[in-house]
Amino acid sequence: MTFEQLNPHSCRTYLLGSENDGRVILVDPVIDHFNDYLDLLKTRNLTLTHVIDTHTHADHISAGPALKDATDCKYLMHEKAPAQCVDIRLKDGDTLNLNGILFDVVHTPGHTKDSVSLIVDGRLLTGDFLFLDDAGGGRDDLPGGSAAEHWESLSKVFELPNDLIVYPAHEYRGRQPSSLGRQKQLNPHYKSRTKEEFVSYIEDLRLGPADWMADVLKANYACAQDPKGVWIPVDVPACEIKGTLGKGVNEIAAEFISARALKELLALDRTPLLLDVREPYELSGDLGAIDGVRNIPIASLSSRLDELADFTDKEIVVVCRSGARATTGAQILKKAGFRDVKVLDGGMLLWNKSK
Ligand SMILES: [Fe+2]
Repeated sequence: MTFEQLNPHSCRTYLLGSENDGRVILVDPVIDHFNDYLDLLKTRNLTLTHVIDTHTHADHISAGPALKDATDCKYLMHEKAPAQCVDIRLKDGDTLNLNGILFDVVHTPGHTKDSVSLIVDGRLLTGDFLFLDDAGGGRDDLPGGSAAEHWESLSKVFELPNDLIVYPAHEYRGRQPSSLGRQKQLNPHYKSRTKEEFVSYIEDLRLGPADWMADVLKANYACAQDPKGVWIPVDVPACEIKGTLGKGVNEIAAEFISARALKELLALDRTPLLLDVREPYELSGDLGAIDGVRNIPIASLSSRLDELADFTDKEIVVVCRSGARATTGAQILKKAGFRDVKVLDGGMLLWNKSK
């Protein structure tokens, strides 16, 4: 079998071929490269027989429907995929024989309901279910996403052999494919956690979907074929947990302030800007909100920094539920040049407990 990664950027497309007969299969092709795929087939005298999408993508339009129309190949997705143009619907445990190449289908929901991983010739094509090394896995906050289901999928895949080589649908930072055994040791998604702990870990890393992703999903539900039909930002690491952050943000050290120290500060009337980065509904929930906070949800912080222009040199305390999203928020602010930014340590959980 031949195996190749085609796209030069962060969206991965795999070409799998039988050795001798020129028949090939594409996994996760991207509409922007539609003409490149057709050129490649023509130049190498290959026949495209099947396209498989590992899931309904939210960050790019699939080339599956367009390739199906252009080449008469079959289009395969999980049975829960909303796209009507799918020819063959996959189920957990299926073994497919496509041109003599055997694919074992593992349903791995979490990132989406219709996510599958494919075991093929010593490889594990994971889609956005599992990324490489410290990249964790795809976000679970898009429509149909579920951290609880993601935990169950991780447990299921944990039983697979360590020597399978993991090939994800995204790689944003040049990491190289490596073994599932390595992922079990290094990947933060495989840190030992109960389901509840995993859900809370994912919840704290949530950025919320960017607005444009809903449009991309709709395009893929509708089997769209126009690459210009939806506005998509260029090369944004949109499927990462901390999806839309710029490079280097994660390396910035955050400073913390305890709930007690903040209460003392407020009592002295030396009021910093309190910036709560939770979703609006959370501020009226059980944990409440600190009086006078300004609310900018973490998902929109990067694009709403101009609202904070008066505070570049002033003291800012970023607040969330537990401190995780606020840490990301503080990193975004510091990267943007805000000088005095602290994180409320332990978030509203500790704030409500402190005297
Ligand atoms: Fe995805």
